[in-house]
Amino acid sequence: NEIYFNGLGGVMPRFPMTHAELEARARQALAPSVWSYVAGGAGDERTQRANVEAFERWGLIPRMFVGATERDLSVELFGTTLPSPVFMAPVGVIGLCAQDGHGDLATARAAARTGVPMIASTLSVDPMEEVAAEFGDTPGFFQLYTPTDRDLAASLVDRAQAAGFKGIVVTLDTWVTGWRPRDLSTGNFPQLRGHCLANYTSDPVFRSRLRRTPEEDPQAAVLTWTQVFGNPLTWADLPWLRSLTDLPLIVKGICHPEDVRRAKDGGVDGVYCSNHGGRQANGGLPALDMLPAVVEAADGLPVLFDSGVRSGADIVKAIALGATAVGIGRPYAYGLALGGADGIVHVLRSLLAEADLIMAVDGYPALEHLTPQALRPVM
Ligand code: FNR
Repeated sequence: NEIYFNGLGGVMPRFPMTHAELEARARQALAPSVWSYVAGGAGDERTQRANVEAFERWGLIPRMFVGATERDLSVELFGTTLPSPVFMAPVGVIGLCAQDGHGDLATARAAARTGVPMIASTLSVDPMEEVAAEFGDTPGFFQLYTPTDRDLAASLVDRAQAAGFKGIVVTLDTWVTGWRPRDLSTGNFPQLRGHCLANYTSDPVFRSRLRRTPEEDPQAAVLTWTQVFGNPLTWADLPWLRSLTDLPLIVKGICHPEDVRRAKDGGVDGVYCSNHGGRQANGGLPALDMLPAVVEAADGLPVLFDSGVRSGADIVKAIALGATAVGIGRPYAYGLALGGADGIVHVLRSLLAEADLIMAVDGYPALEHLTPQALRPVM
């Protein structure tokens, strides 16, 4: 409404109104290595592009005489009601996208202002307790990169629970980072060195593994972190993961229906269909193409989805294909780069306004009306 009425009054929007311009301006705003890290993906980025293009292959069929003057975009998720079926996907190192380096806090403030939950990454500039303190009434989730050190994993989860996070999202597809040519050509994550390890350097278990404190010897802390970072978990580890918390447990990176069934048997509370925005493995199917099979196998279990969502129309299509909630990745990082929490709020509100108006114009007054029957493949 604000953007609409400002426009009628001749007030130009402060931030870009198209994804292409958002991306172009974020590129100018960010240091080249940070830009490469955020915008880039695996290999020649075919899968990353395919994620976006997959949405173009579906079209929504308008329904008339519905009178959808009021729309209800709210959704039940893990015992809480969210105002919309949208959340911010975990973006590690996002701190560095903000002008002041504290992008995790800005993201949390944007969550508080919009009701759009943030899934806070393990890799952050500010420790999770400080991030959670900014959530206001919006629920937040903690994303765990499971370290090889089991006591450290348990400590991170305990801290998340104590800090008030409402669920643990365990990312399974990144125990090793993929082949990312853009990052390799900028020196492979220069931004990580000494930054973004706040959840580790503030952790009592991590600190107990060091001979000198991270403040005295930051380099040794980084080396220890690289040794413990990624744990190539197997199904045999799922009972242990489940035992770490009573909070809702969600596994991220699940695309195969057989994996959905096994995760469900293992007692998870939700599965998260994603290919990490095409950042981890090139040559894969777009995540959206796997969504219907994941939803079918989930058989009522909540399904979170991300990878390639760039518009309100994309949100509507992912919901129609069965997602319970839809994650935004790069677009909100670009908003952050342009205008801190204000930039993120603009990106989220624009996406939601478009989704809401599509539901109005096309006659789908609530999310339960968005089913696969609302869509047809584009010929
Ligand atoms: C990510 N992603 C990610 N996922 C995760 O589980 N933990 C993390 O720390 C990160 N870090 C991260 C950094 C950056 C810069 C990006 C862009 C992405 C993946 C993220 O959660 C999500 O799966 C994708 O970003 C979704 O794809 P789109 O929306 O970016 O196309």
